[in-house]
Amino acid sequence: MTALDPRPAPASDTTTALRFPAGFRWGTATAAYQIEGAAREHGRTPSIWDTFSRVPGKVRNGDTGDIAADHYHRVSEDIALMRRLGVTDYRFSVSWTRVQPTGRGPAVRQGLDFYRRLADELREAGIRPVATLYHWDLPQELEDAGGWPQRETALRFGEYAAVMAEALGDRVATWTTLNEPWCAAFLGYGSGVHAPGRTSALASLRAAHHFNLAHGLATKALRAAAHGGAAEVSLTLNLHAVRAQTDSPDDLDAVRRIDAVGNRLFLDPVFRGTLPEDLVRDTASVTDWSFVQDGDLETASAPIDSLGINYYSPTVVAAGPALPQGRPPEPSPWAGAEQHVRLVPAPGPRTAMDWPVDADGLHELLLRLRDELPGVPLLITENGAAYDDYADPEGRVRDPERVAYLRAHLAAVHRAIEDGADVRGYFLWSLLDNFEWAYGYSKRFGIVHVDFATQRRTFKDSARWYAEVIARGGLEP
Ligand code: FCB
Repeated sequence: MTALDPRPAPASDTTTALRFPAGFRWGTATAAYQIEGAAREHGRTPSIWDTFSRVPGKVRNGDTGDIAADHYHRVSEDIALMRRLGVTDYRFSVSWTRVQPTGRGPAVRQGLDFYRRLADELREAGIRPVATLYHWDLPQELEDAGGWPQRETALRFGEYAAVMAEALGDRVATWTTLNEPWCAAFLGYGSGVHAPGRTSALASLRAAHHFNLAHGLATKALRAAAHGGAAEVSLTLNLHAVRAQTDSPDDLDAVRRIDAVGNRLFLDPVFRGTLPEDLVRDTASVTDWSFVQDGDLETASAPIDSLGINYYSPTVVAAGPALPQGRPPEPSPWAGAEQHVRLVPAPGPRTAMDWPVDADGLHELLLRLRDELPGVPLLITENGAAYDDYADPEGRVRDPERVAYLRAHLAAVHRAIEDGADVRGYFLWSLLDNFEWAYGYSKRFGIVHVDFATQRRTFKDSARWYAEVIARGGLEP
């Protein structure tokens, strides 16, 4: 057996109620800016998150990713944690400015070496490297030149993908081009709660299109690379499980609008080479979409090998208009829908993010994809929950709510597989407590607790539980 052979199926165990298929990929996920730290080391330059986190009031407590979980200096220790968990796969992201400090041109050797070493050590541990090229940390220089609303940024991304494929193509099992382009476009350029903090409906729609184009260009570059061509190419979307508050035609139309800008704006270009016509109509007062050039949608729809889905909670909507949120009110991230759609708080328990816990939403989403994208293998590339964890005097972190959340969502995935959804793997968000974007270090998503003062790592109860699930190949009865 080579280091990368899939884990053998566990011996049959009739007491296991919910067994996952043999070869199911069990992983954890992280992202560069959230864990690496070493923000100025070896030529790394600021990304939009380095800049944004320094703008007063944008990130809770004024937290930044300067040190984060110091993963850059603790790779071996963190891979040892993964070994203890028994994961088969690890999803990480590449910091673009560590590799190309100006967002263009030749790569910095130390930057590439860091990711080569990470991939090599993972493989030695028998863990497949799953690399995301873009998890929200655009080089600041490219933002200064116009950022994602400008077409040039997509072209630069295609070049960066080629650099990475040449350097790591022989080591990476799966490439994910983009993480959650909806968030990057609409929270970054629409509502402004994420970097770079712009608030323009037009900029957010332009950014979304250029993300689709960038994904297509990167897919092409990854396939073309000398020894990169064998790797699987994927894309991760945070698809919204949208539900109407009532069955009234107006509430159902609200669902249609959110589905158009939140889901189909990405699914249609990538899987059909088209733009949702209803979205083009909904956004007519903002743009005529003339920034979409001939051939762009064809580029965006280059075939990929799997689709990654990040799911945390469902979205419930009613006929609008949006109520102002926050103080002062934030602009809406829902271009074309803001006057017609109101988000309704979903009932039930909530996590520390105030996100509702509802595993049925994941099941619904997976069945929709089973029906709409037959033949496309699915990966859950993120799922998890933040709770207010702390280490007790004995150093133990008890997180029964997280275990309950994870168990319910894995059960939903299992049910979807039984119902015919082709789900190949599950990546728990997150391996480590980390920098949770605008919430800074105030929200803990890890199954491994990080004491940010000492960088000490401690398995939470959920980590022990997940290790058992992986060893068993499924959930206990
Ligand atoms: C997702 C992000 C990820 C993490 C989780 C909680 O939207 O992709 O980086 O912050 O939310």
